Amino acid sequence: MTDRYAVIGNPIGHTKSPLIHGSFAQETRQDLSYTAIEGPLEPQDAFAATVRAFIADGGKGMNVTAPFKLKAFAMADVRSERAALAGAANALSFQDGRIVAENFDGVGLVRDIEINLNLPMADKRVLVLGAGGAVRGALLPFIAARAAELVVANRNLAKVELLVEQVAASGGALLACGYGELEAMGRFDLVVNATSASLTGELPPVPSSVFSPTGAAYELAYGKRLTPFLRVARDAGVLGIADGVGMLVEQAAEAFAWWRGVRPETRAVIDRLTIPLD
Ligand code: ATR
Repeated sequence: MTDRYAVIGNPIGHTKSPLIHGSFAQETRQDLSYTAIEGPLEPQDAFAATVRAFIADGGKGMNVTAPFKLKAFAMADVRSERAALAGAANALSFQDGRIVAENFDGVGLVRDIEINLNLPMADKRVLVLGAGGAVRGALLPFIAARAAELVVANRNLAKVELLVEQVAASGGALLACGYGELEAMGRFDLVVNATSASLTGELPPVPSSVFSPTGAAYELAYGKRLTPFLRVARDAGVLGIADGVGMLVEQAAEAFAWWRGVRPETRAVIDRLTIPLD
């Protein structure tokens, strides 16, 4: 029987996941179906009921997107360490009656930066902007990449300090700061905008002095062309700019490999989904 997978979110009309996983399945000759499900926002327990109905129908795994990542994490029986730090799941696997929660956002981001963009982070100065769900999901893989210095800046200082405290408890070294402190910190080899500012066309208050002419700027949002952040980075003269299309495809590849035991090629799918930045 064909194995069933799906992405669940609300709204879900914009999702690229069926296209991505459909391409992976074709390329690796896996017999599976992958659909998009609009999850119910109300009542409170309707999301979990939808997931359980999908499992009862033969579902093997799900990708989870906004606004359900926290609920997916909460309903799991088993949780990976990186999902636990994020407090959020972007992928579920249904195994022997148990729901297993994973979070591949961070590992997808790091693979895109280090492999696709050829920017290994070891011994580099890395600055991450934001301290919300996207950053929580990314931090452990970022720490594993062994940057010389990892700085996380956020408007709300208490929020980023709390996050750093939690990560420090599991052995990771990083520095929390406010935007006002960045000017004195010099240039970074990589600046990652993981705030939600670009979704509303806003610019995080990052000084142009953080960008390096030999460095790069990465925007987590994708398909939004030259966001205010990328524009500032480009005007500051960075060597490379990129948006999150590669991260999107790489996190999907991680989930696919986790579910199916075979790793798909990502290059062709990334090329297909890439919208030129300008
Ligand atoms: P997500 O899950 O997308 O990370 P979130 O958890 O709501 O969303 O977090 C949004 C992040 O973007 C936060 O770090 C937020 O900063 P604050 O914690 O200080 O609010 C950040 N953010 C949103 N709009 C921003 C802006 N215009 N400038 C700077 N940071 C912004």
